[in-house]
Amino acid sequence: MLCKNLAAAVLVFLFSFQISAKEGMWIPLLLEKYNLAEMQAMGFKLSARDIYDVNHASMKDAVVIFGGGCTGELISDEGLLITNHHCGYSAIQSHSSVEHDYLTNGFWAMNRSEELSNEKLTVSFLEYMKDVTDKVLEGTDGLDENALREKIWANSKSVQKEAEQEGKFSASVKPLFYGNQYFLYVYKVYRDVRLVGAPPSAIGKFGGDTDNWMWPRHTGDFSLFRIYADKNNEPADYSEDNVPYQPKKFFPVSLKGIQPGDFTMVFGNPGTTMEYWPHQAVDITMNQRDPDRILLRDKKLEIIGADMESDPAIRIQYAAKYAGISNAWKKWQGEIKGLERLDAVNKKLAYENNFRNWAEQNGSWESTYQPVFDTFEKQFEVYQKYIKASDYYAEVVFRGVEIFRAAQSVSSIINFIENKQEEMANARRTATVETMAGFYKNFNQPTDEKLFATLIPMLVEGLPDEFIPAAVKEMAAKYKGQELIEKVYRKSVLSDRGKLEKLLRDGSGKQLVKLRHDPLVSLYSQIDYINQTIVNPKVNDAMAAIDAGMKTYMAGLMEMNAGKAFYPDANLTLRVAYGKVEGYEPVDGVKYKYYTTLTGIMEKDNPEIYDYDVPDRLKELYENKDFGRYEVDGTVPVCFTASNHTTGGNSGSPVVNASGELIGVNFDRCWEGTMSDIMYDPRVCRNISLDIRYALFIIDKFAGAGYLLDEMEIVK
Ligand code: ARG
Ligand code: GLU
Repeated sequence: MLCKNLAAAVLVFLFSFQISAKEGMWIPLLLEKYNLAEMQAMGFKLSARDIYDVNHASMKDAVVIFGGGCTGELISDEGLLITNHHCGYSAIQSHSSVEHDYLTNGFWAMNRSEELSNEKLTVSFLEYMKDVTDKVLEGTDGLDENALREKIWANSKSVQKEAEQEGKFSASVKPLFYGNQYFLYVYKVYRDVRLVGAPPSAIGKFGGDTDNWMWPRHTGDFSLFRIYADKNNEPADYSEDNVPYQPKKFFPVSLKGIQPGDFTMVFGNPGTTMEYWPHQAVDITMNQRDPDRILLRDKKLEIIGADMESDPAIRIQYAAKYAGISNAWKKWQGEIKGLERLDAVNKKLAYENNFRNWAEQNGSWESTYQPVFDTFEKQFEVYQKYIKASDYYAEVVFRGVEIFRAAQSVSSIINFIENKQEEMANARRTATVETMAGFYKNFNQPTDEKLFATLIPMLVEGLPDEFIPAAVKEMAAKYKGQELIEKVYRKSVLSDRGKLEKLLRDGSGKQLVKLRHDPLVSLYSQIDYINQTIVNPKVNDAMAAIDAGMKTYMAGLMEMNAGKAFYPDANLTLRVAYGKVEGYEPVDGVKYKYYTTLTGIMEKDNPEIYDYDVPDRLKELYENKDFGRYEVDGTVPVCFTASNHTTGGNSGSPVVNASGELIGVNFDRCWEGTMSDIMYDPRVCRNISLDIRYALFIIDKFAGAGYLLDEMEIVK
């Protein structure tokens, strides 16, 4: 489906213009080669080695992967770390109870002994990264696709193993540019990380899901932790004898503030992007995957939201789930709009057309690239068909109606019993019973029933027959609404917690196997069966073929643009994004400023709306103009926007100025620019950061935990 015309050629021209100074998530090791000159021209005052150096302390020693998918940075030589409130959320929540509701009221340790330990929380420091392409590709010449994959896997494993030095480090080998290069990342993982401070949600999550992804923004999205080590400064399990970790490097905190046009750099761990994917991928994302998932989530949010509104207990039960569903739902909407605005599919087509012309001219089209483009055409068609089923299953069955999680457990217990794996069956029985309390704590059956009655018909109508088991189709044709709930959901033993628990504890194997015919278990296992035997394998095979094609295509793109700097798609490893402090123009006639202030928080104040209920203490500080040294023009700066290319995983990343001082903490992107995971637009793609001065103001003035500032290096 390649279009060849003049309009396309013009688009290529425009597209290449888009790759502006600020697009890109760059490899710290290669800054000197590709970026430093430009960074310095934009105002950066330091060297590449100040950012990344293995032999001397550099900024990279002050940046960590926080937990599973955020970034955090050190701000004192005693292990003090700052990240987002939403990154520390589950740690904060786990310490919260009705008596000590830290989510609502905030938490501040007033000395070291009050800091709270967090069982599973870790932070990972990057020791070094290294190009290991030669080792990973050793002995792979001439192998067919499957053998190649296995050899690469085995080689990577052995590189990792060697780097891990018997458990001293954790290592991973990751492909860059779709396997044209491989990098080794070696981390030291600290396991004793304690909660030091968190503002109340009315500050740390101010504006909630309504303001999420939006500008102007007023969220104080930060929390503080401290890393502890053994007496040799090495990782250790939690112990009272542990001492604060002494980092090789920490960020000085700047009170100097920001001006439009100032150089900014974000140094963190972006998760996933797909900037080089062909037009088919963009088309499927914006015209199928995003809309499908938005449609299903519209309903979920409507149902859960209404129940949350009706009962404060339900609001607490579903707060985190609602935030999770809403976060991606809102991002996808921005993404579609952005891709439409950019005419992204046609831009990609034009780009591919240009590529084809180049390949035809140098004689490599027919032999090398035409087969790849044919693969894309064919495999994306397969992918499109099966990913639809996969998305529906995920949204409705695997991560939608929650009772299916119980169905999953029961169904796997039955499988173990039928396969005579008694030990496994018993282990799963015990585990299921043990997790039940946690599950039901945040579960409201009437809400889940409504989800069931709404989402099951959507699944049946949304997918072609081949993806819907006949019995499920029949059931959906026969019963609707309340009847569907009564004849299916409530007929199931899963809807009776007491009965289910008793069966799991005391029931015989035979009794459990009988549950095969339980309406919810049977519904679940039939869908799961199609997923495992048809949908998943098809999606995986198509993706493997596409990935293999991407390797060739990517190499071609780099050859065609020899001399141009390319950045690899994000893969949750340390990257540098750089840009400027700047606002933007979201639509014709509107111009956004680059910063917000405490005044805006007072303007948004509304005690009637949970997300906008400004704490009294903050109002008091505002009314008394008690801003201390954080005051600027009679108010306090809160958030700012800049043109750094970021994505999920960059939450909590340090935002630094030209001198490498901390001016902010990254926590979001502007809605109009959320398509930047697929296509970047320098006009509207902005990252949103918390102004570090607001964090200091909250710690010092609001919480009275000013003692924490004593260990920071504050630059005036
Ligand atoms: N949009 C940000 C991110 O992608 C913040 C999400 C947390 N906040 C929320 N209101 N749900 O993670
Ligand atoms: N809030 C996102 C995160 O948790 C960062 C926003 C983005 O996607 O850029 O990583």
